[in-house]
Amino acid sequence: MPAAPITSSPDFVSWFRSVAPYINAFRGKTFVVAFGGEVVADGKFVELTHDFNLLAALGIRLVLVHGARPQIEQHLARNDLAGTFHQGIRLTDAESLQCVKEAVGRVRLEIEALLSMGLANSPMANADIRVAGGNFITAQPIGIINGVDLQHTGRVRKVDVAALRDRMEFGEVVLLSSLGYSPTGEVFNLTLEDVATATAIALDADKLVFLMDTDGVQEKRGKLFKELTIAQAQDVLDNKKRVLPDDVALFLPCAVRACEAGVARTHLISRHTDGALLQELFSDEGIGTMVVESTLNTLRAATIEDVGGILQLLRPLEEEGILVRRSRELLEREIARFEVLEHDHRIVGCAALYPFPNEASAELACLAVDAQCRDRGYGEAILDHMSTLAKSQGMNKLFVLTTRTAHWFIERGFGEAGVNQLPKEKKELYNYQRRSKVFVKNLR
Ligand code: ARG
Repeated sequence: MPAAPITSSPDFVSWFRSVAPYINAFRGKTFVVAFGGEVVADGKFVELTHDFNLLAALGIRLVLVHGARPQIEQHLARNDLAGTFHQGIRLTDAESLQCVKEAVGRVRLEIEALLSMGLANSPMANADIRVAGGNFITAQPIGIINGVDLQHTGRVRKVDVAALRDRMEFGEVVLLSSLGYSPTGEVFNLTLEDVATATAIALDADKLVFLMDTDGVQEKRGKLFKELTIAQAQDVLDNKKRVLPDDVALFLPCAVRACEAGVARTHLISRHTDGALLQELFSDEGIGTMVVESTLNTLRAATIEDVGGILQLLRPLEEEGILVRRSRELLEREIARFEVLEHDHRIVGCAALYPFPNEASAELACLAVDAQCRDRGYGEAILDHMSTLAKSQGMNKLFVLTTRTAHWFIERGFGEAGVNQLPKEKKELYNYQRRSKVFVKNLR
C-alpha cells in the first residue's frame, strides 16, 4: 500500500498554521547562530544548512559564527605541535597560528560549499544563499596573564556593524570565523563564543543561538531548564557546589552577557538533534534552554481582546465535561471577572472570581491551563494570584465547585463543604443534576 501523503495528515495543516505567528514575528529580525567546528567534522552540517536556508528564506537576517577547535587540534597534532593552554585559554604562538589559519580556512570553505547547494528534490532546491565574509572583526591580543604571554590569542575589540548591516541589507548570510585582525595587520585567534556574543551585542540582535554538546542547561537532577532569567542563570553559574558541563560553562556566561546588553533571547540547544534549531524557534516550548532578561509570564486582568484566547483554553475542558459550557456572549459580559496568565504573549491560563460580599466569600471558577503547559506550576500560580485578589477585595473564603478535580484543590489546602455552606445566592443557582462538590479554603 502506498504511504498516505503527508498533507493528508490532520497534523500537517494545523502544524503549518501554528508556525505562522513565528514567521511573522521573525521576518527582518537578526539572529546570530554559533556552532563549533565539531558540527562540520561530524558530517552533520548538511541538515543544519537546510535549516539555515529555511530561516534565510523566511526573511531572517542571519549571521553564522563557526569555530574550528577539533580541526585546529588535528592540524597541531599533524605538525607535532602540542596545544598549550594557560588557565583554560589556548596560547597561540606563531607556529600554532599557522595551523589555526589553515584549519579555520578549510572549515570555512566547507561551510561555504554546503551553503551553496541547490540540488533539485532537496530542501535546498531554489536556494540562493549568498555568503558574505570579510574583515568585520577587529581583534586585540589578550596579552600577558600571570606572566604568560598568550601571543596571537585575542579577543574581540570592535565589530564593524555598518559593514555587517550592509551585507544583510543585500540579503546575504554573513559567515564569521573565529579570527580577527588588528589595525597593525596581525591575525588573532579568537573564541567562537566571544565572536558570536560580541557580534550579537553590537548588532543588537534579536537572538543569539549556541549549538552545543548537551541539550541545554540542566537542573541538578537532570531536568532541562526551559527558560532562565538572567538572575536564574547567574544563580546556576554562582553555585559553587556544581560542576557544569564544559559547554554550559562556556556558553551560559555568554548568554547572560548578551542578555544584559540587550539581546532579547539567547538559546542553548543541542547540536546532536536533527532540526533542533527549527524546534526551538518555531514552537512555544522550544527544545533547549532559553535565557531571557526577565520572566515571560504575566498575570493580569483580562480584557475584551482576551475572549478568543480564553475560549480556546476553556473549550477542551468544556468538551470533557470538566467545566460548564459558557457562550462567547456570557464570557464577554463577564470578562471583568477573569484574570489571565500570559506566557510569551500567549494566553496559557485563566480563572474567574465571583465575589459574594455579603458573606465575605468568593467563588473561584473556570481555572484552566493550556494542556501543552502542564507541569510548569501555572495552576498554582493562578490559584495564588486569585487568593490574593480575593483577599484584597475583603473576602475571607474562597470556594470552588468541581466534579472532577477535587484532589487538586484538596492538595492545595481546600476542604470539602456541603452545598448549604455556599453563599445564599449561589445556593439558589446550584445545579443538583451536575452534583458538583464544594470545596472551601480560608484565606485569613
Ligand atoms: N520559539 C520561541 C522563540 O524562538 C520560544 C522558544 C522557547 N524556548 C525555550 N527553550 N523555552 O522565541
